[in-house]
Amino acid sequence: PVEVESVQALAASLTTSDHIPTRYSRPEAESEPVMIITGDAEDDIPVIDFHKLLDPELSDAESSKLDLACQNWGFFQFAVSSKMQLINHGVSEEVIQKMMLVIEEFFKLPLDEKMLVKQRPGQLEGYGQMFVISEEQKLDWADILYFCTSPLHLRKNGFWPTKPSTFRDALDKYSMEVKKLSNCLLGFMAKNLGLAPAEMARMLENGTQYVRINCYPPCPEDKKVLGVSPHSDASFLTLLLQVNDVQGLQIRRNDKWFPVKPLPGAFVANIADAFEILSNGKYKSIEHRAVTNTEKERFSIAAFHGPNFNAIIGPHSEFVLEDEPLYKSLDYESYMKLRYASKLDGKNFLGRMKL
Ligand code: SIN
Ligand code: FE2
Repeated sequence: PVEVESVQALAASLTTSDHIPTRYSRPEAESEPVMIITGDAEDDIPVIDFHKLLDPELSDAESSKLDLACQNWGFFQFAVSSKMQLINHGVSEEVIQKMMLVIEEFFKLPLDEKMLVKQRPGQLEGYGQMFVISEEQKLDWADILYFCTSPLHLRKNGFWPTKPSTFRDALDKYSMEVKKLSNCLLGFMAKNLGLAPAEMARMLENGTQYVRINCYPPCPEDKKVLGVSPHSDASFLTLLLQVNDVQGLQIRRNDKWFPVKPLPGAFVANIADAFEILSNGKYKSIEHRAVTNTEKERFSIAAFHGPNFNAIIGPHSEFVLEDEPLYKSLDYESYMKLRYASKLDGKNFLGRMKL
């Protein structure tokens, strides 16, 4: 990995009439069309209601809706009502609020205090950037914090900030609740595909969860940069929380970039590459990117959920009875090592897994 400077510090050093360093300039960012959302609900990203999924009377209908969202969009808003907390599912409002607060506080700290949890050479966790593998590569307009949050024995607490003092506790509670939610949603998705729930549960036992916290500073030449380069995610399922009400996420749909609005009380859920592989292409991962603006800092928290590191990622036998397997099989740990050694580049990493 190549070390790069803090984008927050760079942004703070620029005036509104300054030009950005050429390493951040992405001509393609401006040239690709962005969809205009008409406000017609029919055309917008589906909303799946967790409450309905769990309600015996409404579950079947909501499950079908989930199946369609997975087939036709690969992305959906996952509305999680705070009532869920009562039956030990969902993520409580309090846990979300605390997580949002510690993130804003952390990124407000002076650079030298953030550097206390700086990524070490050859390691991913802590404060810095990801997927920078060469000196020539174009850079994203974001600083990140990255953590392994599950399984517990793989946590590297030394990289978890101690400022603000509530950071570790907030991340601990947030990640545990989001993981429960993800396991449950993955159970519904597997069921929709005809996979035995016990089998999904076995893959998710000691399942991995990584949390990536993104800070996108405002940029004087916002149209020339990308907060995150186009990519699809690597794991099974991502649950993304858009922390403040600033728009930035865009998904590729019908060859245009489709903006996803932050919806209060909802996570953005998306299918990731390993799930496309598992389902032998029945559910597809979707390319997405993040853009910036000139005025407001934006924060998001992505939680990536995968199986345990020993699980074999490959087309499930259920789906290769009639169809040929489309992807290679590989243990999840090796798969993730390959992924971390590549730059973000659309769906090209998944392309390399194709047979
Ligand atoms: C990501 O896909 O890594 C981040 C997306 C976002 O910040 O909205
Ligand atoms: Fe992503």
